[in-house]
Amino acid sequence: MTQFSGSSDVPDLGRRQFLNVLTAGAASAVALGALYPVVKYFIPPSSGGAGGGLTAKDALGNDVIVSEYLNTHKPGDRTLAQGLKGDPTYLVVQGDQTIASYGINAVCTHLGCVVPWNASQDKFMCPCHGSQYDNTGKVVRGPAPLSLALVHADVTQDDKVVFTPWTETDFRSNEDPWWA
Ligand code: FES
Repeated sequence: MTQFSGSSDVPDLGRRQFLNVLTAGAASAVALGALYPVVKYFIPPSSGGAGGGLTAKDALGNDVIVSEYLNTHKPGDRTLAQGLKGDPTYLVVQGDQTIASYGINAVCTHLGCVVPWNASQDKFMCPCHGSQYDNTGKVVRGPAPLSLALVHADVTQDDKVVFTPWTETDFRSNEDPWWA
C-alpha cells in the first residue's frame, strides 16, 4: 500500500475493487435468493414440524392414504410404517375398520431388533431372543424388560396419518411412559 502512496491510481483502483466486491456481493445475494426455494424443496416439510408430528409413510416412502389403506388392511391388521425418528412403527386397524389412535414402535426393548407381528398368535414375537408382546405391544414375556413404545396416530382431514410423541400415561400399564 505504501509503494502506491501519492499515485493517482490508488483512488481509482480502490474504487474499482470496491465496486467489484459490491457486484460480487449482489450476485451472491441473487444466487442465494434463487437457490432458496430449491434448497427448501429438498427439506422434507414434515421434518421438525410444529409439535414434532410426522406423516406416516409406507415401506416405499409414500404417505399412507387412509381410505386406500383401509381397503387392503382389515381389522386386526398391524403393518409397519415409517415413524418418528425413522423408527418402524405399527399402524393398527381396529375392529370398526378405523386406524387406532396409537401406533406401536416395533423396536424390541431388549436389544433393539424389529419385532414382527404374528397374527395367528395375536402377538408381537421377537425372533432374536424370544420376547413377546401382546397385540397392544405390552410385554408378556422376557427378556424384554419393557413394553413397546407408543406414539399417537391421528387421522387428518386430508386422509393421512400423523404420528406425534406419546408423553401421557401408558394406557397398558397406567404408568408414566418409559420412553418419554
Ligand atoms: S432383541 Fe428382542 S428379545 Fe432380544
